[in-house]
Amino acid sequence: MIIQFALLLASIASLVGAKGEFFDEPGAYSHETVRRKHYKTVNFTSPDFQTTLWHPEGVDFDSPYIFFTDTYRTRSRPIIISSKDLSLVYAGEEYDATENARVQRYNGEDYFTFWHGGNARGNDQGTCRFLNTKYEFVFDTKSYDLEWGTDQHECEVTADGTVLVTVYEPRPRDLSPIGGKVEDTMFDSCFQEIDIATETLLFQWCASDHIPVSETYAAYGKTSKGRGWDAYHINSVQKDGEGNYFVGLRRLFAVVKISGSDGSRIWQLGGKMNNFSDLSNGHALDFAWHHSARFSGRGLTQLTMFDNHNNAGERVVGCVGSSCSRGLRLELDYDAMTVRHLQSFYSPTGLLSYAMGSYQTLPNGNVLLSWGNNPQITEFSASGVPVMVFNFGPLDAAVRTYRVYKGDWQGKPGWPPSVAAKVYGDEAWFWMSWNGMTGVHSWAVYDADGRDVLDHINEGSTAKGSAATEGFETRIVVQNVQQYVRIAALNSRGEILGTSELLDLSTDLGNV
Ligand SMILES: *[C@@H]1O[C@H](CO)[C@@H](O)[C@H](O)[C@H]1NC(C)=O
Ligand SMILES: *[C@@H]1O[C@H](CO)[C@@H](O)[C@H](O)[C@H]1NC(C)=O
Repeated sequence: MIIQFALLLASIASLVGAKGEFFDEPGAYSHETVRRKHYKTVNFTSPDFQTTLWHPEGVDFDSPYIFFTDTYRTRSRPIIISSKDLSLVYAGEEYDATENARVQRYNGEDYFTFWHGGNARGNDQGTCRFLNTKYEFVFDTKSYDLEWGTDQHECEVTADGTVLVTVYEPRPRDLSPIGGKVEDTMFDSCFQEIDIATETLLFQWCASDHIPVSETYAAYGKTSKGRGWDAYHINSVQKDGEGNYFVGLRRLFAVVKISGSDGSRIWQLGGKMNNFSDLSNGHALDFAWHHSARFSGRGLTQLTMFDNHNNAGERVVGCVGSSCSRGLRLELDYDAMTVRHLQSFYSPTGLLSYAMGSYQTLPNGNVLLSWGNNPQITEFSASGVPVMVFNFGPLDAAVRTYRVYKGDWQGKPGWPPSVAAKVYGDEAWFWMSWNGMTGVHSWAVYDADGRDVLDHINEGSTAKGSAATEGFETRIVVQNVQQYVRIAALNSRGEILGTSELLDLSTDLGNV
């Protein structure tokens, strides 16, 4: 009996982990298969992150959360994790296929935005969903005057309070210049600017109306399900202050500036119609199959992107230097029409990612990269030194995240905290979590011998036990607990943020 109890304690302790350490010791991802974290209080699992490099003095903790999509088996859910210890904060458990989760500001409010649709692989139709800080549905984009819905590649709120979304659209086109048929089908690359408030289409652009198909670098080939040949592959759109747009076209190896009045090409960086001269001996313009192109800085002269660099159709781990994917930072001069290479950010592991990937410049100048189809996230200091590398699977595993973002967020879900309980003789074990709630500093357990006593617990009530928050799920063990229990979540000032349902320990047991 005593031995059994000790074994039980040991197994529970290993699940909970050491205080403050929610990832394994630095090292390679040493597990042969993808490992997941399991919880007592909720039915879902989350990625088991393994840091391979961790220099907390250099990490940007002013961006307290990391947003990405967690692909596991056939599903892909939006999740939020803590920058501090990589513990789970929120899992959008009800979603099956999502991409591009992040926080965006619209009309003075923060929204958790992500694409969701039928299938998160490659291209698909869906909507870009906006959730408020209570995780309530506020707005879904749709596409206008096109057959297909919003695609997962872009959902960008502009400074004008509009949203830019990408749409892939099958259209009849002559593809004979690239080896296709005269009467062929193209899977065209379109984007739309939508006014959120009035739900109206403000601007639409489709690549094949403006760019000859012969500019593609992708060899004409098999198309899936009659969608047509994807010659351009749009994956980023940004609006400038003058009403023009920057469009990232992966299969053209180019970023194109598009006129907001007639959709014509103002200039192009990279590709067959490049307009810039390379001041870095070809090292500024040698990007290929890229993602996540973003202009920033005064006059929008800085361009950052995730340069996949290769499309070999495979992941490579342990590549060296210029054969690998990288984060790329360039500087443009629009008067002289020149481009200069500023920085390349390589994974310390040496990664070549044939698909997906993202580049975000953090407020303190750090750089955050998702390695796309390689399950690694890397943060670099502004000078290019890696300060955080974590993996969420063996590097050959089929788990990935299209993009990753860091930022701030205040989640206040409408649902209560979740609790699990188990009583062992005189000792009662409670586990507690609150999916999506931010700012929970500690937890307290209140008990009583009558049902109604716990109706009005407040900061003056005496707790039976309490503990500082320990990642997603906190455990509190108390002795000689009375029949009725309620659990409260408290903020750093000791104020109650919310309470659980009332537990009747004579019946609400065995759910662990
Ligand atoms: C988990 O799922 C089971 C079966 O659907 C359900 O009975 C149980 O209440 C769920 N537990 C939690 C903590 O959501
Ligand atoms: C860009 O290059 C193309 C092809 O050489 C040329 O036709 C076009 O005028 C150039 N545009 C600018 C803005 O330089």
